[in-house]
Amino acid sequence: MDWKITPVGPLGARVEGPDLREPLTPAQVRRIEQLMDEHAVLVFPGQQIDQHQQIAFARSLGPLDLGLRKITGGGAHRFAYDELADISNVKADGSIAGRDDPKIVGNVANQLWHSDSSFQRPRAKYSMLHAVVVPGFGGETEFADLRLAWDTLPAWLQQRVRGLRAVHYALHSRFMLGATHYTEAQRAAMPPVEWPLVQTDPRSGRTVLFVGVHACEIPGMTLAEGRMLLADLLEHATRREHVYQHRWAVGDLVMWDNTTTVHRGRWFDFAERRELRRATTEEVQASPEALAA
Ligand code: OGA
Ligand code: MN
Repeated sequence: MDWKITPVGPLGARVEGPDLREPLTPAQVRRIEQLMDEHAVLVFPGQQIDQHQQIAFARSLGPLDLGLRKITGGGAHRFAYDELADISNVKADGSIAGRDDPKIVGNVANQLWHSDSSFQRPRAKYSMLHAVVVPGFGGETEFADLRLAWDTLPAWLQQRVRGLRAVHYALHSRFMLGATHYTEAQRAAMPPVEWPLVQTDPRSGRTVLFVGVHACEIPGMTLAEGRMLLADLLEHATRREHVYQHRWAVGDLVMWDNTTTVHRGRWFDFAERRELRRATTEEVQASPEALAA
């Protein structure tokens, strides 16, 4: 396997060599998993894959996650697979969504630091995002390493948060952004889930500070104190020295581990087209009890 691996920052590595149009061999799957355990983000440049090849690639790495579609049903979309998320400011008919289109709230919410589907059980493991159309300016994606976040957390804070859990709720980020259009049924359709704040990554054995914008409450603390602690921890986790910023080129496929990183999109002009496609695997067999560090 003659792949060229080049680290790109405090986390992340560029992987040149594989052709993701072709099915992965078992040895290649193992190699990618090992590289993910080490780097947490992998950039595969110049991958001219179609939606079928992207889904096949993702399926070879685990069962696919439906994200919010699991609950809401989703509605009309442009792809042959419900499992392919349309990460774009484009409507099902192919036209650019207006700034007041409900879809744009999702684009803005993606600009808050988060881990995909941390509000569900199972949560997401790998996300694989492929760039089809990129804007002329902005629209980068940033990744922060939650293992580094733990390693660099001051000892008194490590002591304070060990054993705590956080409640993750799907609509918290939407409410933060002022969205009010959700019905009672929609609000109730996504019951919150709890995850330990401090986890042991079962694959690498490293300790992870599992924070992100979906975390909205700490059981046993007042809402105000819990939210403040979560905000402080997220601020620490996303310090620049923990971050890799990816500038997209068409054909890039970027893959990240949602259990060891958080990510966010950066500003771009919503009047310009930005089209990416995401496939996501579910984390297999992680009970919150087993993860607690
Ligand atoms: C995602 C996501 C950020 C971006 O696809 O899960 O958060 O930059 N994307 O589009
Ligand atoms: Mn995301």
